[in-house]
Amino acid sequence: MNNIIICGFMGCGKSTIGRNTARKTGRRFIDMDRYIEQKAGMSVSEIFELFGEAHFRELEHEACVELSQMKRLIVASGGGALTFERNVEAFKGKDTIVLLDVPLEVIRYRLRNDRVRPLLQRPDKDRAMTELYNKRLPLYRAAADYTVEGQNTPIKTTAAMIELIKSLPHT
Ligand code: S3P
Repeated sequence: MNNIIICGFMGCGKSTIGRNTARKTGRRFIDMDRYIEQKAGMSVSEIFELFGEAHFRELEHEACVELSQMKRLIVASGGGALTFERNVEAFKGKDTIVLLDVPLEVIRYRLRNDRVRPLLQRPDKDRAMTELYNKRLPLYRAAADYTVEGQNTPIKTTAAMIELIKSLPHT
């Protein structure tokens, strides 16, 4: 069985929906950021702080290559991962990439108190988020094989994700 790779902006619910969907479909769930953290022995914030974003992107790429070699996974990718062509290439054609699509205003509300994500810890957080969102949305759309609306409750969104997976051939 191929993997399902969930992509989308920070706060769109990739981990929550991925974990719920995995539980209900008998697949293994992997959160890409946690996978990177376990391998590195430190948090994503620490990686950014100590080694910078470029190094994090290298670790993230390694993780994509490794996860693409596994099977039956539901992967919650990091919000930046599928905006890089080399990471899309690692999964494309073999795994199914699903965009969890959530409007910017909903994301903004969900992340209003975020103190963890390194890219959002800045005084001009709102502007930076808008710019990044607008830049990335077309990249997510280009990478994704399918889109699931993610602004509803986790129960509804999980149900939509499961329905999609059941309809896929070879999964
Ligand atoms: C990032 C998103 C984060 C994490 C890192 C970089 C991004 O993951 O990978 O902070 O570039 O959007 P989440 O989408 O799980 O927050």
